[in-house]
Parts: sequence; structure tokens; C-alpha cells
Amino acid sequence: MQPGRTCLAIILAAGEGTRMKSTRPKVLHEMAGRSLLGHALAAVSAAGADSLVVVIGPDRADVAAEARRLAPQARIVVQAERKGTAHAVLAARESLAEGHGDVLVAFADTPLVRSETFAGLRGALHRGAGVAALGFEARDPTGYGRFVTRDGQLEAIVEHKDADAATRAITLCNAGLMALDGKHALTILEAIGNTNAQNEYYLTDAVEVGRRQGLTTVALIAPEAEVQGVNDRAQLAAAEADFQKRRRLEAMAAGATLVAPETVFFSHDTRIGRDVLIEPNVVFGPGVSVADGAVIHAFSHLEGACVGANATIGPYARLRPGADLAEGTKVGNFVEIKAAKIGEGVKVNHLTYIGDAEVGANANIGAGTITCNYDGFFKSKTIIGEGAFIGSNSALVAPVTIGAGAYVGSGSVITRDVPPDALAVARGRQIERQGWAAAFRAAARARKAAV
Ligand code: UD1
Ligand code: CA
Repeated sequence: MQPGRTCLAIILAAGEGTRMKSTRPKVLHEMAGRSLLGHALAAVSAAGADSLVVVIGPDRADVAAEARRLAPQARIVVQAERKGTAHAVLAARESLAEGHGDVLVAFADTPLVRSETFAGLRGALHRGAGVAALGFEARDPTGYGRFVTRDGQLEAIVEHKDADAATRAITLCNAGLMALDGKHALTILEAIGNTNAQNEYYLTDAVEVGRRQGLTTVALIAPEAEVQGVNDRAQLAAAEADFQKRRRLEAMAAGATLVAPETVFFSHDTRIGRDVLIEPNVVFGPGVSVADGAVIHAFSHLEGACVGANATIGPYARLRPGADLAEGTKVGNFVEIKAAKIGEGVKVNHLTYIGDAEVGANANIGAGTITCNYDGFFKSKTIIGEGAFIGSNSALVAPVTIGAGAYVGSGSVITRDVPPDALAVARGRQIERQGWAAAFRAAARARKAAV
């Protein structure tokens, strides 16, 4: 990449996405916990785009809001009428006129394109090309624009509807993404006409127009899987499957063991350290990081959680947003943790809910402990000091503090703070009646015999 060369990325998101059969616009549907639009924005940003434009359709406040949420610095422009891909790009005329080094055009419904691929298109510009288009070898080229090449140069892109039989026989197809030299982008785009089968302004004509202006036009090739677009729910699922395959390989390449990779589902932003062991059937929602050496046992679900080094989670654990587990913690089966800081070496091994809490290092939380954090109106906090021991089946009614080193007797309902190193027992006192059971049985048997 040439240092100091600026890059404007224009993301086309004006599609209607009717085949999704959805009230939601297509580009707001999610893959790996992030909208399709979010994937496109992330990829061009990682490829060094320092100015972003999102082209949306009219009355698409929802798409605009998502773009603003993901990229507050992005300019949002409306393409009032759908007159083709070049027309859509020209909706970003103001930005194009600012004179950026590189111009990238991306489709918001093509979520698997890697940032390296966008960077590759920029690289072609830096080696002297005026236009660089991304192509792929199509298993079935029907419907795609065809790359007409000669001596390694890209001569033209011909849309399927405009192609003759010989051109339709070409299997090298246009993925739709393109990079244009910023010095020429606006002149090229403004020279594109609409005399074609669809009376649309085709971005693909940038190749022929660029050549006429004496520029070098080149093709870069990507695997078909990487450039697959999403038009319906089946294609959304196919894209998700390919994304998951890629992430599993990346996690393993980075030193994690996945016992049954095909059953582990990542989010776009899951971070997994070295020597992490992930057992079968684990799902990562957005915002999870797992530090080195941690073990995630089978059937666990994590979301918005931070798992410290060498911690052990599950089987059947649920970590919800704000679960922050320090090094060496143990969270066992059927334990749910939400918005809680769990200190180093803490054990929460069985059947527990810890929500809105802080648990000091080396505390032991007995089976069936529940933090009662919600009264129907407000959430309240539970603080458990270092080394405290909470007996099984205790209810800690928040707000409440258990002092460091304190003991809570099993089955207690704790409603008041417990001082450090104290014992709190809050349950009915036990009584024993000698011989009561034997006398009860004898009387009952006698009654039964009498009927
Ligand atoms: C486009 C390419 C074709 C390529 C194919 C790959 C053109 C002319 N053709 O065709 O060569 O093989 O993609 O999938 O570029 N859009 C707008 N406004 C418009 C028209 C389109 O924002 O007026 C957006 C769409 O929402 C979509 C993208 O541009 O994200 C592509 O448009 P689409 O109509 O799907 O183009 P294709 O005909 O599939
Ligand atoms: Ca398309």
C-alpha cells in the first residue's frame, strides 16, 4: 500500500431486497452477529478506507441509522431513483469531487469479501491501473457481467443481458466490486451512458470508458465463495456457513483446539487465545473474548463476555453480556452469569445465577446460589468479598454485601449485609422429635387396616 494515499469507499446499499420476504431491508439482516452492511463497512475500513459513503434508497431511515451507529463518520447519501450501479455511485458525487487517492466501490449485500481483497484492488491502482475490477470463475455465469480480457488486460465488462452467445460462454464473471483511481473516478463515472438492454447506468462500463481515456484496466480474481451475494434467506444461510468455516480455520490456525469444529459458531468479533479448548456445540454471540488456556466445555453459550486465562466454563454454561471472568475461574454446569465481575480463582460450579454482582477472588459459590437482583422495577447489586463461602441453595437479596471471608449457611435467604469473617444463617431452625416417624407410621397403618 502506498503510504499517505487516501481512500474513499462507497458502499451501495440502495437495494430493495424483495427476495428476502422481510419487513427489514436486506442489508440489515445479520451474518455472524453483524448486519451485512456492517461486514462491508468493516472490510473496507480494514483495507484503509478513511472516508466512507453509504448510498441508501429513499425512506430508509433504518439503514441510515445502522450506518451511523457503525460508522459515525460516514456520509450517508440517498439515491432517489434506481438507475443503475454507476448512477448509485454518483450519488456520492460530492465526496468523489474531494479528490481522494483511491476510490473503492463495494456492495452492502456481499458480506464475505475480505479486507485483503479490497487492499489488493487498491494495490493494483498503486501499480498504475486506472480501474481494477474483481472477478471470479462462476460455476453458473448466468446473470453476471462477463469479463472480456485480452493479453491479461481487462477490455470490457459486458452485462449478461447485453451479451452475445460468444460472450455468454465466458465464465470469468464480475463480482461487482471495483477500485478507481481517484484522479479519474468522477470523469469516468460521468462519461458512462445508459444505452443498454436495461437503460441503466452501469458501473461496469467504467472499464471501457477508462480504456478510452487511456487508462490501464485490470482484473483481479477472487474465489467464488468470497464474492457470493445475499439475495434470499437460503443465500444468507450459505454465507453464514462459509463465514463459520473460515472463522473455525482461523481459530485453529491461531492455536485453539476445536474438537468438532462444525458444531462451534463464532461471531464476527470473537477473540480466541492460544491453547483454548472448545468442546462441541458451543455458540459465541457478539463481543466475546477468551484468553489463553481456557476450556469451554460442551453446550455453552457466551455473549458479551470476557473469559480469563485458564478459566473453565460449562458444560451447559451461559455467559451473558458483562460477564467478566478473571484468570482461573471455574464456572460449571447450568450456571448463568450476567453483568458480573468474577475474581481470580472463584468457583461457581453448579446451578447458579449470578447477575449484577462482584465476586472477590477465591470465593466459593455453592450449588443453587441465586442473586436476587430484580424486584420488578430496579436491578440491584450483590457484592461478595474475597474468599467468602456461600452455602448451597442460598438466595442473596440485592442490594447486599457479603464481607470477605464470611460464611453463608446453606439454604439462607440473605437480606442484610454480612460482616467480613462472620457466619450468617437465615433459614428456619431445625427441630427433631424422637420416635415421631415410627409413631406416625404405626397410627397410619392401624387406620388403613380399619377401612
Ligand atoms: C451487478 C453487476 C454485474 C455483476 C453483479 C454481481 C453492474 C451493472 N452489474 O449486477 O456485472 O456480475 O453485480 O453480483 O454493476 N444498486 C444500487 N442502485 C442501483 C442499482 C444497484 O444501489 O440503482 C446496488 C444494489 O443494491 C446492489 C448492487 O448495487 O447492492 C448491485 O446491484 P444489482 O442490481 O444487484 O446488480 P446486478 O444486476 O446483479
Ligand atoms: Ca445482484
